[in-house]
Amino acid sequence: MKEEVRAKRRQLRDFTGPVALADRLEKSKAMDRPVRALAKAVRRRIRPGLLRDVLHGVPIGEPLHPPLASVSLGCWMSTAVLDLAGADPRAARLLLATGIANAVPTAAAGLTDWSSLHREQQRVGFVHMLSNLTALGLFSASLLARLRGRERSGRLLSFAGLGIGTLGAYLGGHMAYRQAAGANHAPQVSHLVPLGWHDLCPIKDLPEGRPVARRLGYIQLFVLRRGEGVIVLADHCPHLAGPLHQGRLVMEDGEACVVCPWHGSTFRLGDGSVRHGPATAPAPTFETRVRRDGTIQVRPGLT
Ligand code: FES
Repeated sequence: MKEEVRAKRRQLRDFTGPVALADRLEKSKAMDRPVRALAKAVRRRIRPGLLRDVLHGVPIGEPLHPPLASVSLGCWMSTAVLDLAGADPRAARLLLATGIANAVPTAAAGLTDWSSLHREQQRVGFVHMLSNLTALGLFSASLLARLRGRERSGRLLSFAGLGIGTLGAYLGGHMAYRQAAGANHAPQVSHLVPLGWHDLCPIKDLPEGRPVARRLGYIQLFVLRRGEGVIVLADHCPHLAGPLHQGRLVMEDGEACVVCPWHGSTFRLGDGSVRHGPATAPAPTFETRVRRDGTIQVRPGLT
């Protein structure tokens, strides 16, 4: 009997627990229309270029949104602590205002990342955004109330904002850790390919100037023959694992690059570094050499 009750409880938890709810959100098509429209509008508004790269976090080598979000959440959490401790209300107001001001670049960075995600990630991200917008509205109302001397209402509004913001933060965590949005999807080649040189394929089998995919043990490689030389990168794009060998080859400021076919991340062929996001991590590179019998050999590079 006890076992039955336990099994029922487990079933209920599996169906209504926070992870189960977030999983259901991933699969729900109910909000697909606004999701599609907003993602399109963001992509149209924030065109490829310096601003978009900065918002993605390309200059710092990792997504900009999570650290910015931590600043706002930290400010609002600290506001609640000060309120509970009955500290100087001016300090609470200052923290509240700092969190609100910081929410603007945080939202811009988050929206930019979100516009280039898979649909399942965008569904969760959409609710994450709605929760955070609601929380932001409550914190703003709280600041206004405090500035008008309505300290008690201001505190209540802050606590409500923190509650909704916690839901938003949970969904942000789900996106980052369950759905791997913002994570580096390029294989850790040093873990998957033993050190040293490995035979890849005969150079004569490769087309000139057109990238192809070749397997090396567990991983797939982007392989490009240029005359007697060969360029080899990990084939999975670090952004969301798009196939780089299907990408376009372009020249950017005199440097040969490949553009990912999925969301346009651009990597220098020379060293795999990111020229344009949304990817922020470089594509792993391989050193190459050609044996006398024409066999290409590769070994993991330093990036
Ligand atoms: S998978 Fe998104 S840019 Fe490559």
